[in-house]
Amino acid sequence: TVVVLDFGGQYNQLIARRIRELHVHSELLPYHVPAAELARRDLKGIVFSGGPRSVYEEGAPDVDPGVWELGVPILGICYGMQLVAKRFSARVDRGAVREYGRTRMRLEPSAGALFRGQPEEQAVWMSHTDVVAAAPPGFVTDARTDSGAIAAMHDPARRIYAVQYHPEVHHSEHGMSVLRNFLYDVCGCRGDWTMSSLIDETVARVRAQVGSRRVLCALSGGVDSSVAAALVHRAVGEQLTAVFVDHGLLRQGEAAAVMASLKDGLGIQVVRIDAADRFLARLRGVSDPEQKRKIIGEEFIRVFEDASTRLGPFDFLVQGTLYTDVIESGTATAATIKSHHNVGGLPEDMRFTLIEPLRELFKDEVRALGEALGLPRELVWRQPFPGPGLAIRIIGEVTPDKLAIVRASDAILREEIARAGLDREIWQYFTVLTGIRSVGVMGDERTYAHTIAVRAVQSQEGMTADWARIPYDVLARISTRIVNEVPGVNRVVYDITTKPPATIEWE
Ligand code: XMP
Repeated sequence: TVVVLDFGGQYNQLIARRIRELHVHSELLPYHVPAAELARRDLKGIVFSGGPRSVYEEGAPDVDPGVWELGVPILGICYGMQLVAKRFSARVDRGAVREYGRTRMRLEPSAGALFRGQPEEQAVWMSHTDVVAAAPPGFVTDARTDSGAIAAMHDPARRIYAVQYHPEVHHSEHGMSVLRNFLYDVCGCRGDWTMSSLIDETVARVRAQVGSRRVLCALSGGVDSSVAAALVHRAVGEQLTAVFVDHGLLRQGEAAAVMASLKDGLGIQVVRIDAADRFLARLRGVSDPEQKRKIIGEEFIRVFEDASTRLGPFDFLVQGTLYTDVIESGTATAATIKSHHNVGGLPEDMRFTLIEPLRELFKDEVRALGEALGLPRELVWRQPFPGPGLAIRIIGEVTPDKLAIVRASDAILREEIARAGLDREIWQYFTVLTGIRSVGVMGDERTYAHTIAVRAVQSQEGMTADWARIPYDVLARISTRIVNEVPGVNRVVYDITTKPPATIEWE
């Protein structure tokens, strides 16, 4: 395994993910993990990730000193490079240059193993202010940026490598090659880890954890919970009971469609629970987005607890939590963007032990896993739908009237996107009831009615997204149909914001 030590950047799990893409087992662990703990693994190398702090700040995060003595190769990225510089007393100019975003980098004649086979000049993605001005004793400079700052350096004897930029992001042209060279040439990894190794490891781990006890699994019909359920079912078979909760915040026709597709697609018996009344009752009068998310997260658990009394008892609860859900809900080192219902929305007094086999993975990896498990394509490629459902697509209080409006407009959008043959091409699309009313004119009469926003995005894994370039004529049909067919709506707008700075959902 190659361990990535997490210093708190939003994109750190991306490093672990790139390592998996190169067919090497990888884990992201907190930066303060004791060296002894790392020594217990079949460790081939360590990566120090990026992070928001400066290594020279008071109390800046640092590794257990024993980590330097483990004898495996180390790659420091960004903050990680500064840690290497500090440890070996390099000359550092603090805050000397501000390099953010795309930067040009030039290799030195002395460039080492990480840069083998790469062009002398390349674009890399930077984000830093502290600059290593001179490589420490024993280190060789691999590359510099136009400003003269050291962009990469290494010590061949101790096998310590450091890059100031982010090789894990797409904008760094030869970033994958740097990681590949580190893993294969420096760490000696073989690159024989695959999705089926992941399935085997997960099944074995869940089996050991659960023993002969019983497990409850909440299915939503989406790819995440389906893949999680299929994995756990493979591990513990009939000890698993699956439930589908209709919380009254689903799209038009969704509950029936999901029940049918789960029965056919997963081969697992699913118990349907109708809980619309209790969710809507708890949401009454609530308009703050974080509060809505927390109420829904808690209510899900209460429903599962009731199910445990009736169908159980269950010791474990399976959730299809993804890394995106974890990082956006906030961690010890990363800020809270929004509380995903299955992470930041969990009540403190929950009695279940969680089983979250996908917690370290990104959406597209989960899809690959679903395919490797042999799940049907319709399930695997279903567009994402958030656990809190339409509640976070109604700005302000959730009421039955407003739910009817988002449902009807969303159904029209889905129909028209499918009719245009774009349903497989666009990653996610939906409508939002914006909470804005505006003036219109219909049949010579003044109207003062709701504004619907159409949101459609392209993404790899939901961490970043761009708005989808839906052809104008398709947008025109969507808009005309929504204002004509959905009572109470007189205006449709198209959301043309990327993530970041927006998020995909409006709440
Ligand atoms: P955002 O809005 O954070 O969404 O850009 C990223 C992806 O995650 C989905 N999403 C959620 N999924 N529970 C979920 O299961 C949640 O609480 C949640 N919030 C957002 C969103 O639909 C998008 O695909």
